[in-house]
Amino acid sequence: MSEQNRVLIFDTTLRDGEQAPGASMNEKEKLEIAYALERLGVDIIEAGFPVISEGDFNSVQSVAKHIKGSIVCGLARSMKADIDAAAEALAAARKKRIHVFLATSKIHMRFKLKKTQEEILKMAVDAVKYARKKVEDIEFSPEDASRTEREFLYRILEEVIKAGATTVNIPDTVGYSVPAEYAQLIGDIKNHVPNIHKAVISVHCHDDLGVSVANSLAAIKNGARQVECTINGIGERAGNASMEEIVMALKTRSDFFGCTTGIHTQEICRISRLVSKCTGFVVAPNKAIVGHNAFRHEAGIHQDGILKERSTYEIMRPEDVGFMGTGLVLGKHSGRHAFKDRLKMLGIELKDKGLDEAFDRFKRVADKKKQVYDEDLIVIVEDELKAFQKTWNLVSLIFQSGTNIKPDVRVVLKSKGETYEKSSSGDGPVDACYKAIDAVTKVKGELLDYSIQSVTQGKDAMGEVTVKVKFKDRNIIARGTSTDILEASAKAYINAVNKLLSQQADGKS
Ligand code: KIV
Ligand code: ZN
Repeated sequence: MSEQNRVLIFDTTLRDGEQAPGASMNEKEKLEIAYALERLGVDIIEAGFPVISEGDFNSVQSVAKHIKGSIVCGLARSMKADIDAAAEALAAARKKRIHVFLATSKIHMRFKLKKTQEEILKMAVDAVKYARKKVEDIEFSPEDASRTEREFLYRILEEVIKAGATTVNIPDTVGYSVPAEYAQLIGDIKNHVPNIHKAVISVHCHDDLGVSVANSLAAIKNGARQVECTINGIGERAGNASMEEIVMALKTRSDFFGCTTGIHTQEICRISRLVSKCTGFVVAPNKAIVGHNAFRHEAGIHQDGILKERSTYEIMRPEDVGFMGTGLVLGKHSGRHAFKDRLKMLGIELKDKGLDEAFDRFKRVADKKKQVYDEDLIVIVEDELKAFQKTWNLVSLIFQSGTNIKPDVRVVLKSKGETYEKSSSGDGPVDACYKAIDAVTKVKGELLDYSIQSVTQGKDAMGEVTVKVKFKDRNIIARGTSTDILEASAKAYINAVNKLLSQQADGKS
C-alpha cells in the first residue's frame, strides 16, 4: 500500500484522555503508558499541556527524554508563554512537535475569547510562526472547527499552512458532527484550501453523540491522514475516539478503506488494561475490541458455528489484538519456571525480587483458587509493576461481622521492616477496615467511589476492587485484587495511600 494510504496515529491519552474527570495520572504512570504507546507503534504521542501545571511540564519532559520511536508532542494555546513552555519541555525529544490551538467558531470567538475574526487570524498566524522558530513540526487546531464558519475556516487553514503548520487538525470539539457531514467537511477543506497539499489533514472527534469513531473513519475515507484518538476512548466528557476501534476497523475493513497504520495490534489489550489500571476507569464488558465479552460467544448457534468455522461469527481473531483466552494455564502444582514462561508469553518480564514476590503471590492465589487463568496472572503481577513505592504492605486482616454484629476489623501492616496493627469498628466491614488502615498509616482518606469486578468467572474468582479516595486536596484512584473481597478492598485502599505518599515524595502538587 502506498505512503499516501498510511494513516498516522496520534495518541492523546496522556493529554485529552487525562482531561476525563477523575482520570489524573502521575508522572511515572504517564511514562509507563508512553513506553507502551511506543511499543504499540503510535506515530505521535501527545504527552501533555506543559504550561498548564508543573506536573504536566515534568511529565512531557520525562516522556520527551525517554521516548525515541514516536514523535513526542506538547499542546500550547496560541500564546508565547505556552509555546515557550512546550518547546522547553520537549527539548530533549528525538522527534518533537508543538500542537498550537485557537478557537475559531463564532460562539467561541464571541463569548470565550471576545475577539474578531481578524484578531483570531493574526493570533493563529503569529503563534504558528513563533512555534516554527523553535520546532519544525507544527500542528495547528482551529478549536471547534466543525462549528466554524466555512469561509473563515478555509482562510485560517490556508494562512497557518503559509506560516509553517505541517499538520492541520479539524477538531469536532463538542462532538456535534455526524459522519456524512464530517466527511463532507474534510472533502470541502481539500477542495477550498489551495495549499492543503502542503499539510497533513488530521481529525479529532469527541464522543458526545456516540459517533466519534464513525466520524473519524468517514473522514479517513474522505482523505484525512492523521487521526487523533485515545486508548479505551477516554477523554473530556463522553471521551475521544477510541484508538483500538479505529485501528481495528481500518485493518479488518482494509478492503473498504484501503489504508494502513503502523500499529502492532497484538499490543492493544495489554495497553488497554494498563490505561484502565492507571486511570481506574473500568472497561465496559461489551466495549468493542477490548471489553471482556468482545470475543465471547454465548448463543448455542454461534458456538456451534464457531466450532465449525471461526469466520461464521468472528470478523477478527482475538489473538490479533492480544485478547487473552480463558484456557486453564497454571495451578498450584505449577513451578516457578512455568510461571515465568507464561508471563513471558503474555509479554511480561519480571526479574529477581519482583519475580520472587509475584511467584509467592501466585502460589497463595493458586492455593485458594484451583484454576489460574491468564487474566488472573496479569492482576497478580500488576502489584509488582506498580509505578509507585509500596510504603505500606498488608500482612493480614481478621474481621468479625454478621447480621446483628457490628463489624470489627483488625489489620496488620508492614512498613520498612516494622509491623503495626490496629482494630476498628465501622458501618460495614470495608468501612471498619479502612478506619483501621487510617489509624495505622496516620493518613486519613475519604472514600469517594468503590467498585468491585470479578477477574474471571466462578465462585472462587479473584475480585478486583477499584477505589477513589480523597486525601485533603487530592483524589487518588487505586486497585487491589484477591480471592477474598475484603482483602482486595484493603489492598486497593493501601495502594491509594502508597500512591499518595509516592506523589508527595516526588514533590507533586
Ligand atoms: O477537542 C479539541 O478541540 C481539542 C483541541 C485542543 C485539539 O482537544
Ligand atoms: Zn479534544
